[in-house]
Amino acid sequence: MSIQHKDIAAIRQDYVLGNLSASDVDNDPIRQFKKWFDEAIHSEVIEPNAMVLSTVSSHHLPSSRIVLLKDISDEGLVFFTNYESRKGDDMKENPHVALLFFWPELQRQIRIEGMIEFTNQADSDEYFQSRPKASRIGAIASPQSREIPNRDFLETRVEELSDQYKDSDVVPRPEHWGGYLLKPIYFEFWQGRASRLHDRIVYKKVSDSWRITRLAP
Ligand SMILES: Cc1cc2nc3c(=O)[nH]c(=O)nc-3n(C[C@H](O)[C@H](O)[C@H](O)COP(=O)(O)O)c2cc1C
Repeated sequence: MSIQHKDIAAIRQDYVLGNLSASDVDNDPIRQFKKWFDEAIHSEVIEPNAMVLSTVSSHHLPSSRIVLLKDISDEGLVFFTNYESRKGDDMKENPHVALLFFWPELQRQIRIEGMIEFTNQADSDEYFQSRPKASRIGAIASPQSREIPNRDFLETRVEELSDQYKDSDVVPRPEHWGGYLLKPIYFEFWQGRASRLHDRIVYKKVSDSWRITRLAP
């Protein structure tokens, strides 16, 4: 095979913004994640909480999409979605998932792997009610990941629901919508370096503690 698009092949960024060593990082990957996340918030990163969620179906087929990180605790990372979506179906069958953050402005990538659990219903209710009313109605109106005939189908459902809830600020959370908690067993913090000699610091959970190592770039 010869390369067809030399202009694509020539896109190349040299990374010079920072460095990372095992002696710099926190012993706890969640604290290290919070440190980097804080730095992303305070730099020019647009939507630093946007992350790629990869799931694997019951037929062993992987798929990826962006979701938004909505909470971080000592237990792990939380996001919200439709439990009956394609990703919801995947996670029902296979709770092993991967998350990926890419913050190009900081020349950083974070990979996280682990097992998924449902958040408790009270947390899902609280977050659902904190969303704007139109987003709550949108979440009810959209049978996420299912085929629909056209856009009118959605807009009609939104109109009907808006009418149903016109006198109320409380739009109840549908049972099929809520949070997931990813309990991590693996983190990789990647810092771009010059000449492709990037830094990769990995945390692997062994029993109840974290083993920190460096990987070749
Ligand atoms: C910036 C961005 C943020 C998103 N955040 C969410 C989210 O928090 N939850 C969600 O269910 N989908 C979110 N989406 C939409 C998903 O990427 C995806 O289209 C949807 O969840 C359906 O995925 P699925 O069919 O694989 O289940 C977001 C998309 C983008 C581009």
